[in-house]
Amino acid sequence: MQQTRLDTARIRAARTVIDPVFLDTPLYRCEALEPVLGCTVSIKLETANPVRSFKGRGTELVASGLAAAGERAAVCASAGNLGQALAWSARGRGLDVTVVASRFATAAKLDRIRALGARLELVDGDHELARERAAAIARRDGIRLVEDSLDVETCEGAATIGLELAARAGSFDTVLIALGGGAMATGIGHVLKELAPGVEVVCVQPLGAPALTRSFHQRRVVTTESADTIADGVAGRYPIPAVLDDLLLVADDAVLVQERSIITALRLLLDHAGLVAEPSAALGLAAVLEAPERFAGRHVVTIICGSNVDMPAYRRWVTPAPTS
Ligand SMILES: Cc1ncc(COP(=O)(O)O)c(C=O)c1O
Repeated sequence: MQQTRLDTARIRAARTVIDPVFLDTPLYRCEALEPVLGCTVSIKLETANPVRSFKGRGTELVASGLAAAGERAAVCASAGNLGQALAWSARGRGLDVTVVASRFATAAKLDRIRALGARLELVDGDHELARERAAAIARRDGIRLVEDSLDVETCEGAATIGLELAARAGSFDTVLIALGGGAMATGIGHVLKELAPGVEVVCVQPLGAPALTRSFHQRRVVTTESADTIADGVAGRYPIPAVLDDLLLVADDAVLVQERSIITALRLLLDHAGLVAEPSAALGLAAVLEAPERFAGRHVVTIICGSNVDMPAYRRWVTPAPTS
């Protein structure tokens, strides 16, 4: 097999650096979801940690590397979860973190970034503008720019989820992975292709933010003019070429889902699994809802990768419209 940028020995070593609070997350069969979805469903729960998303696995690696190199500061662009996780990982290591985010980002995420002591700068545009601004700050201040999915630590941190899944390989057929910048999909995909090649790796994006999925199918970078989805964690428009190259090596498929399926999946997770998920974390189940025949009789694992929501919006999503 052609090589990705990732290395399984480094991913194993990463486990010794990442705070155990992010590791060995629950993986369990959720039978209550199965009658609705028509397949066997297991959940990998990445929300029961201090930042309520999987991103802490990667930021622990980034921050420990920075501290070891004697760096004092870093800047990143974030839709919210990377920024929150980097702020958490930096706090105990004496690192100053600046997070650049869209002013339209989920307010609960921005509040947590501030509460964790990071400096927050808002841009009047989307995540791609935040990426440009973060790069400009890094150049101006001569500090490390942490680029999610491009920086291999962010992928290898997420890839530790893959090790935990590979340890249970044989019990499931397919892993459904939310696809944003691609750190999670390339990380988990790398490990599964190496340690459990029989497992199908399926990435899921919203139809409203399809850039990396389109790029995967066309085998070249495809950008979009805009992104319009409630799944804020995956709403990028400019795929990173090196990440696409890795994704092409480790993903079996990438599919797009509609907003209404994401909302139905959020409701299912609350009603049948007792889980608050953010929209990005519901993408896997949305994919099953849209193609039940594809997954019928299979055992799928879906990664519940974040639960940072603004409660008023979340309540609207999970409350069915009154019928008259
Ligand atoms: C909750 C959640 N799900 C999915 C993703 C997408 O992950 P990636 O950018 O690693 O593809 C993110 C990214 O921040 C996220 O916060």
